[in-house]
Amino acid sequence: MSDRYQSLIHTPVGQLLAKHLGLPNPVRLERYSAGAPLVDGTVALGGDGRLEKSLVTALDSLGVAHVRDAAPVAEGEPRYKGLVFDATGITSSEGLVELQRFFTPLMRSLGSCSRVVVLGTPPESVHGAERVAQRALEGFTRSLGKEIGRGGTAQLVYVAPESQEKPAALASTLGFLLSPKSAYVSGQVVRIGRHGASDAAEEVTDWTRPLDGKVAIVTGASRGIGEQIARVLHRDGATVLGIDVPQAASELHAVTNELDGDHLTLDITGKDAPQRIAQHVKEKFGGVDIVVHNAGITRDKKLANMKADGFASTIAVNLTAPERITTELLKQKLVRPNGRIVGVASIAGIAGNLGQTNYAASKAGVIGFVDSLADDLDDGITVNAVAPGFIETKMTAAVPFATREVGRRLNSLSQGGLPVDVAETIAWYANPASTAVNGNVVRVCGQMMLGA
Ligand SMILES: NC(=O)c1ccc[n+]([C@@H]2O[C@H](COP(=O)([O-])OP(=O)(O)OC[C@H]3O[C@@H](n4cnc5c(N)ncnc54)[C@H](O)[C@@H]3O)[C@@H](O)[C@H]2O)c1
Repeated sequence: MSDRYQSLIHTPVGQLLAKHLGLPNPVRLERYSAGAPLVDGTVALGGDGRLEKSLVTALDSLGVAHVRDAAPVAEGEPRYKGLVFDATGITSSEGLVELQRFFTPLMRSLGSCSRVVVLGTPPESVHGAERVAQRALEGFTRSLGKEIGRGGTAQLVYVAPESQEKPAALASTLGFLLSPKSAYVSGQVVRIGRHGASDAAEEVTDWTRPLDGKVAIVTGASRGIGEQIARVLHRDGATVLGIDVPQAASELHAVTNELDGDHLTLDITGKDAPQRIAQHVKEKFGGVDIVVHNAGITRDKKLANMKADGFASTIAVNLTAPERITTELLKQKLVRPNGRIVGVASIAGIAGNLGQTNYAASKAGVIGFVDSLADDLDDGITVNAVAPGFIETKMTAAVPFATREVGRRLNSLSQGGLPVDVAETIAWYANPASTAVNGNVVRVCGQMMLGA
């Protein structure tokens, strides 16, 4: 649905009001379109750490222009599209001043919708003063996300020491975080090499179609976020098997036919649903590479008024069904090596929400599902989740006006996200080079003020 405030504020009168009354002034976010350059401009590099070589290799493989010892740009010159700082060389709190030395002179040389990425060492993998300093990076990047402005974003990527010789995961992650694909992701902490993830990443030769030859299951694919996930995975080369309830059959067929994909109509909570999905996948494709558990429902009521069915059905669709389907596919060895399992959580599962004890429990459970599975998977199979914030869909269009406006504006980008923002995040997890990206929960929420 459209954001009328955003349209109004972009008129000359709206801009005047925004300036004088201090109203939120949401920038029109740049989003990726197929065929466009991944990063439309130069990225300035800084810092003195162990990732210098991998960083350059990764950016070169993506075709991203980069420069070291960058100077502030003069009036009229093109501005930097991104800043990447390798902070892995910072081993004590005194060393944190290096961040200020690099960033402050360049902050006014950033273009609109620019990207900041700080690379660090996972604090839990080091000790003493280094651990303190590396943990401090989180406060730095989260604050920068709140002040960068003009549609810019800032993230921290912790790269485990054992992953530094494998630029593939760094490439797929930077390809996402430096490009317009991460338009609505900010203030996030990503871990590469977490949970002892295998580094058996596949080479990606064509970054515009990294999923060529892959098969993806998307539940709830007939509309909303699920439809966009299907579209983006198809754009990246995957064959998509869309699943939805029988009542949504015609919409589902329309989507999957357009994408030359396949469809299966069933209720994922059905007793035999996991076996039916497994059998379909086995017969049609022999296996699956990407499983996206997107289907979800809300049955909001305060706990005092909650009906038993409203509670149970929300847990059944959002949490138990993804668990059962995953277990069956893994048991039958249908998830291929270097496969991807992706859950769709919610910021409600992190911060809690009034009237959503059932929904928030189910979505926090999705995060638990990622945590518990990430350590157990082998063969390069990963599990990660997205936690969307306010995304413009039929679900959020039904929210009362005042609550909707608060939900939209209470984030660093002062606007709601689009289904495609969630889909792009999932496509990054799905990338065959993202093998070391395991056990992550990334919020797609424009750095919403709610929750951690
Ligand atoms: N829209 C948001 O702002 C937002 C925010 C956070 C999380 N999410 C999550 O994102 C996911 C998609 O949300 P959406 O806004 O696109 O919702 P939506 O209601 O538009 O789409 C959900 C889809 O899931 C399908 N589905 C529901 N129950 C099913 C079942 N038992 N079996 C098979 N299919 C079933 C529906 O038919 C529908 O096609 C959900 O998991 C939701 O909880 C959405």
